[in-house]
This record gives sequence, C-alpha cells and structure tokens, in this order.
Amino acid sequence: TAQTNRLIVNADQGSVIINKHIYGHFAEHLGRNIYGGIWVGPDSKIPNEEGYRLDVMKAIQKLEIPNLRWPGGCFADEYHWTDGIGNPKDRPTMINTHWGGVVEDNSFGTHEFMNFAKKIGAEPYITGNVGSGSVDEMSKWIEYINFDGVSPMSNLRKRNGQDEPWNIKYWGVGNENWGCGGNMTAEYYANEYRRYATYARDYGANKLYKIAGGANSNDYNWTEVLMKNIPLNMMDGLSVHYYTMTGSWTDKKSATVFDRETYLETLRKAAGIEELIERHGAIMDQYDPEKRIGMIVDEWGTWYQVEPGTNPGFLYQQNTMRDAHVAAISLNIFNKHADRVHMANLAQTVNVLQAIILTNDTDMILTPTYHVFDLYKPHKDATLLSHHLVTEEVSYGKEKLEALNVSTSKSPDGTVNISIANIHPDKKIDLDVVLRGISAKSVTAEYVTAPSIDSYNTFEKKEVVKKAAFKDFKLDKDNLKIAVPANSVLMVRVK
Ligand code: AHR
Repeated sequence: TAQTNRLIVNADQGSVIINKHIYGHFAEHLGRNIYGGIWVGPDSKIPNEEGYRLDVMKAIQKLEIPNLRWPGGCFADEYHWTDGIGNPKDRPTMINTHWGGVVEDNSFGTHEFMNFAKKIGAEPYITGNVGSGSVDEMSKWIEYINFDGVSPMSNLRKRNGQDEPWNIKYWGVGNENWGCGGNMTAEYYANEYRRYATYARDYGANKLYKIAGGANSNDYNWTEVLMKNIPLNMMDGLSVHYYTMTGSWTDKKSATVFDRETYLETLRKAAGIEELIERHGAIMDQYDPEKRIGMIVDEWGTWYQVEPGTNPGFLYQQNTMRDAHVAAISLNIFNKHADRVHMANLAQTVNVLQAIILTNDTDMILTPTYHVFDLYKPHKDATLLSHHLVTEEVSYGKEKLEALNVSTSKSPDGTVNISIANIHPDKKIDLDVVLRGISAKSVTAEYVTAPSIDSYNTFEKKEVVKKAAFKDFKLDKDNLKIAVPANSVLMVRVK
C-alpha cells in the first residue's frame, strides 16, 4: 500500500521567534565577491551607483537580507582597517595571501561597506582582526565606527566624511582562530577573547553584540573550553562553521556533474548540521540554560571544486537545484533550533562558494539558492510552530533519507507558513496537511523547481531554475492536500 504522507501543524502553539538574522549573508574579500561582484568603483563602465554594481545591488535589495558579515573569513585576521579609509588614491595595498595571492588595493573599506549595508538595508556584522592585529587596533576601529563624541578616532571618521557614528551592533572577535585566524588552542583563544572583548567598548546607548570565534564543525571541546573560560556576560554569541562537502578537501567534486547517489549523499551531509547544533547546543545549555547566548552559524553552505578554468583561490562554483535543497534543509533546521540559533550567514554572497548571485563582466544571474532565500522570506521573525511529519523515504545504496523536509511558522498577521523540500529526484508526493487550531480560508503558494537535480542557470539561460506560483493544492475545511512536485522547494501560506 502506498505510504500516506502527512503533516500536522500545531498552528495555535508556539513561542519562539525565528530570528530574521538566521537569513544573513557573508561577503569576504575573496575572489570576485567584493571586487567585480559588489564593488566596481565609480569609474567603471559597468552600471553602478557610487561604485556599487547596480544589478547586484538591486537583486540583494529585493532579498531584504537582515545582515551582512564582512570583511572575512580568513581575510579578517589579516586585515588592517586603517588601510581602508581616507582618499582611495592614498590607500596602501596588501597581498591577499589566503585567496589567490592577489593584490588588494583597499578601495573597498569601512565607509564603502557601511554605505553598502545602508543601501541594501542590512545590519553590518564586522569581524575584527585577532590573529595578526592588536587589542588597540580593534578597539580603535570600534571607536571610529561607533563613538559620537570628540576623540581621535571619531574626529578621523568625520574628516573622512562621516559625521554621525554608524552605531553598529554585531561584532565578531576574530574568525576561525583555531585555524587561519592564528592557529590557537581553545584555552589560548579564550584568554585572548577576554582581552579583546574588554576593550570592545559600548559607546552611548549602543550596545555591542559580541561574537566569539567558534568551533570548526564538530570540535566540541572548543565550545566547552570557551563556555567555561569566558565570563558569560562578556559574550553574546558563539559561532560555529559548517560546510557541506561531498568529496574531501583534496577532491571536492564537481558542482554541476554528479549522479543521484552523490546528490543524496550531499543532502545527507547538509542535514548533518543538525547534529552539530544539538551537540554544541547541549554544551552551551550547561552554562547558559536560558539560551541567552546565540549560536551563530556564520559560515555555512556547499563547497565544491571551482569551475574549470577559474582561479582555484577564488572559490567560484556553480549552483544547481541540489544547492537549493541544501539551502532549504539548512534553513529548515536553523528555524527548528531558533531558540539557540540566533543568526546564520550563508557563505558567500556573490561569486564565491554557495553564492546567491553570479556575475561576469556585464551580466548577472540569480542562483537556485537565491530563489530559496526569496521563497523563505515569510519565516523571518515569524513564530516557530511545531509540527509532526510522516514522510516516505528515498533510498540510495544502503542509506535512506526522508523525502520531505519541512519547517512551519506563523507570521504576525496569523498567516501560517509551510516550507517544504521534496528531495525525491523524480517522485511527486501527495501530502495531507492538517492545520490544528486555525480555520483556514485561503492558500497561496510559490515554488522553486527545475527539470532535474543538476539543473542550473547560466548567462545564456537564466531561468532554468526560478521561483513561480504554485497551484497544485486543494483546501477542504482544515485539510489541505498538496501535490508536492519531485525535486522542488515550496512555500505554502495559509490564512
Ligand atoms: O568562506 C571561505 C573560508 O572558509 C573563510 O574565509 C574561512 O573562515 C573558512 O575557512
């Protein structure tokens, strides 16, 4: 007998808010992310507004991203912010040793980043330099950005054309300090954190939200040591990074050429982030049972081989329907753990890793991942709803995965949001949805789908994978039947 796929949504229960910052992004000085992607400079032939590439800026504006992390990544612990202020012609250059050894001309610095964040309506999230910087350097950067009175740094900011302080909130104290951020032990970093955080001052009414550099995926000892050795009132967030890699560091496998088995294996690995959240979370719970300190997943996404013929240090990869599923599964998991996960940042925004946008000299494409973020907008700041899902499975080799992956929330206006990924490559799934506690009157839906799991957009064919209206559902009293297409991600909204 055919399996009944069933979803029960407890639409009248729920207390945890899904922090909109879970839908955050990350733009490092890496490859063509900032230079060529976001910033082309005011003298460029590429249409721009004050140097910001217009097509990219508009696409990001449309996504209403809540925050943008900058300037790295590994780059952050080698970046000296004073190189990136003042007249661009006088700014020194440096070598971007992590990413292709290219020359960084510092034409995109603090002011350029802040203006961009303002234009796209995102909160800035800056990562300071612990690995090769100093307490003094980081402390002065914060004074430069946030101090409203008369001081050497605020005067310098004013001389550089910005009278008002920016009053930013999110501040990272280093990045991957177990690796590229200084190869520190957890104990050593915890002490360094205390020193740096002491001088990361609050100015006026502005209170910094300080984020400690967290563990490399499943390094639970790192989390334990930091939670134990850092006074809890000195930290607001603790980060963790998790990349979905189908191959290994030495053989990362193609972004576009893969079989069914590799596809499902990639999704199984993506779902592995849940174990990390639960286990790091369990450690955090012991020290912070109220869950005040946010788990900040400030780097996540797929990491494949670079596109053939491109600079290996630029991390430029294509993005298929498989990536759309990785995004959907990851975001569903973050929502589910919204009591602890207070922010997450996809790596990275333009032309790098699981990008939402790819560009060439003159043109831009939106990736399948972009469309999933677009689809998932209603979850931002909505109340998480619990649900019970019975789903059939899809098997490969000796493994099995649940075919449907779901998240449910309720918007402030009472609309119930149901995001559903059907990862089955070729089977449509009939889903019965029971909405407990509301009487449903109307349903609207949109979806992202494609002819196959490896479909992707190119500069020649930009809409192979796109978002479209979805109609294959039927509402009968409180029962909703949805015919969830194979290989698709849906957002169903019930009023
Ligand atoms: O996102 C690319 C790199 O991955 C980041 O710079 C670093 O933090 C991580 O290892």
